[in-house]
Amino acid sequence: MSDKREPIKITAFASGRGSNLEAILKNIDSGKLNARVVAVIANKSKAGALENARNRGIAAYHISRLHFESDKGFENKLLSVMEEHETDLVVLAGYMKKIPAAIVRVYKGKILNIHPALLPSFGGHGLYGRFVHKAVLDYGCKVSGATVHLVDEEYDTGPPVVQKCVPVKEDDTPELLAARVLTIEHEIFSEAIKLFAQGRVSFKDGKLAISPVDK
Ligand code: GRF
Repeated sequence: MSDKREPIKITAFASGRGSNLEAILKNIDSGKLNARVVAVIANKSKAGALENARNRGIAAYHISRLHFESDKGFENKLLSVMEEHETDLVVLAGYMKKIPAAIVRVYKGKILNIHPALLPSFGGHGLYGRFVHKAVLDYGCKVSGATVHLVDEEYDTGPPVVQKCVPVKEDDTPELLAARVLTIEHEIFSEAIKLFAQGRVSFKDGKLAISPVDK
């Protein structure tokens, strides 16, 4: 049965190169994902994600806490952009800042983050980028992976939506492992968004539940 739903409207936050955002946009372009990226917000003016958005004609905003005198001013600006574009879902595609709690409250259950490890291991403050993969290797793990999870008010603690494993190899370096994990990040972010686009995510007894396709 074809999915007659309207495309889910996404605001993406990013800080850097934006390969996860690009993977999502490619899946939208190819028709694999019934979604539309309506806005991209970056805290860094040079973020590749911003340039990509501009090239594709997507509304692109450089918004940093440093531009505002108060938290409130910053939060209001972010909220006004998200509201202006009628955002259904927020995706943190390599956003290296904490989303303000006020925004988490407004978009509760509608903010997804991607983390390059299998949460709840190797997550939390300071565990980002190369540090994550180095910690996995230093511990001697035999598998790692990536997690797309809902965002709550802490770092990396919201419920997982999609997780996938990759093997850790004997001669791995943080860079080699990061590249292997990134490949699956590009798959699972879209898989998680698809679950929301299909209206399959709900909460039962405070736990995240995913319903089968033909509900
Ligand atoms: C990814 O590894 C993601 O898991 C982490 O930051 C990185 C962002 O990469 N949160 P990119 O900007 O999407 O290429």
